[in-house]
Amino acid sequence: MPEIPFDAFGLPEAPLLSLDLDDLDQTVRLGRALAEVFGEGVFIGLLGNLGAGKTTLVQAMVAQLSPGFEARSPTYTLLNHYETQPPMVHIDLYRLESYDDLESIGYWDYVEEPSAISCVEWLDRIPNAWPGEGILIELTRTDEARRARLWASERYRAMLAEDVAARLGMGAG
Ligand SMILES: Nc1ncnc2c1ncn2[C@@H]1O[C@H](COP(=O)(O)OP(=O)(O)OP(=O)(O)O)[C@@H](O)[C@H]1O
Ligand SMILES: [Mg+2]
Repeated sequence: MPEIPFDAFGLPEAPLLSLDLDDLDQTVRLGRALAEVFGEGVFIGLLGNLGAGKTTLVQAMVAQLSPGFEARSPTYTLLNHYETQPPMVHIDLYRLESYDDLESIGYWDYVEEPSAISCVEWLDRIPNAWPGEGILIELTRTDEARRARLWASERYRAMLAEDVAARLGMGAG
């Protein structure tokens, strides 16, 4: 299970939402809800062990934004760009090591593009890649269970705790 650098992210340790993802469908449902609620300019950081479902979640968001579009894992390309509506940039920090590596891929130009949604896998590899505002999602996979925990910076708290939760049938709060 990843150690989440809450101090670096400026987030409280307690998640706003905590969900069991019993099957692939549940992961897809979460991705769809996120894409319905959060629009252009949002940053979504994804943490979690290998095969936990980070790329799957982004695939579901992309399919929700523009049916027929497909997200691919950026593990080797480092960065993918999708002409969805709004456009999305999908980055994987797994093979990067330092803040300098971010600059060499033009990270901030992509992440600070106000018309795009940014999704960044393995954010815990380079905690300084967190822009200060956004959504943080930890996916965990153990032998018995898969789980998602979600946090939001102040700006996005109500959207996550109310709008996303309602779409997932969790009611308010
Ligand atoms: N809730 C779930 N229950 C069961 N299987 C799931 C669930 N969510 C996703 N999966 C499956 O688990 C795998 C997750 O792979 P995925 O590439 O999304 O993980 P990842 O977190 O991006 O891994 P990596 O760290 O290698 O980038 C996929 O085969 C997907 O179909
Ligand atoms: Mg992945």
